[in-house]
Amino acid sequence: MKSFSAILKKSGRFTFFEIPFDASKVFDIKKGTIRVFGTINNLEFREKLTSRGNGKYILMANKMLQKRVGFVGSDLEIDVEMDLDKVALHNSGNRISLDVPKCKIDILQAIRERSTIRQFTDRKVEKKKIQILLESGFCAPNAKGKRPCHFIVSDDSAFLHKIADDSNHKTFKTATCCIVVCGDKNVEGINKFLIEDCSAATQNILLSAYGLGVGSAWIGLLKTCSAYEYIISCFSLPEKIIPVNLIALGYPDEEKPILPRYDSSKVHWNHW
Ligand SMILES: Cc1cc2nc3c(=O)[nH]c(=O)nc-3n(C[C@H](O)[C@H](O)[C@H](O)COP(=O)(O)O)c2cc1C
Repeated sequence: MKSFSAILKKSGRFTFFEIPFDASKVFDIKKGTIRVFGTINNLEFREKLTSRGNGKYILMANKMLQKRVGFVGSDLEIDVEMDLDKVALHNSGNRISLDVPKCKIDILQAIRERSTIRQFTDRKVEKKKIQILLESGFCAPNAKGKRPCHFIVSDDSAFLHKIADDSNHKTFKTATCCIVVCGDKNVEGINKFLIEDCSAATQNILLSAYGLGVGSAWIGLLKTCSAYEYIISCFSLPEKIIPVNLIALGYPDEEKPILPRYDSSKVHWNHW
């Protein structure tokens, strides 16, 4: 993490600050977009750098970022903490090698065969597998590449039983683990796609669980249900964090038939 002071300034149509080092050298990025994250005056940001040639970079502040840091048009001194956003190395030239865990199920087979499991054995899901599920969650598409999702993992039986108190959440009576998929409304900036982002991550986790032989259930979390406030207070969630979905996990103690689900009456080619 690099720490430095800079001046946020407006020049013509653009508002930006200069990076006081050669970001390509410091972050060891030979070509392509350099994506960074960190804080500006203790407020989180996730942006890309713009090259001005000769190892000079600037960070352009969009309207939302300007508003958040209180920029009103005149030069503003800012304290910046910045690091390379490794997970966001999207450009093929910058792809970092990750250890990709394998499972024996083809992706299309997993999509067709997965179904909600609501009865689990008492066998705990291994931490290694949960780690793989979280990685799958982080791989989901998300609006503007802002990756606003956070994941709270709990295998605490008191927590699971408390969640199961709600009649819609009975699945947690036997689940051995819960992932609370949360969204950071500040990172997203405008909160608009937070539900979609968290839901894409949720589905990735469900499919990966199936691939690993772990049963799962997507449990919606309405703001009006008792679990919603309970989760916020139980984990002392910061104001910016919204719990969006729950995922119940465990080893299946029930078998679900695999049914064909394609419904041609709901498919509309070129016209309704
Ligand atoms: C947004 C959403 C909310 C859900 N909420 C609940 C819930 O509160 N309780 C529950 O038992 N299942 C819940 N489910 C699981 C659905 O009931 C389940 O996916 C649906 O019956 C289809 O079955 P399948 O997953 O086996 O295909 C939810 C699923 C989604 C996508």
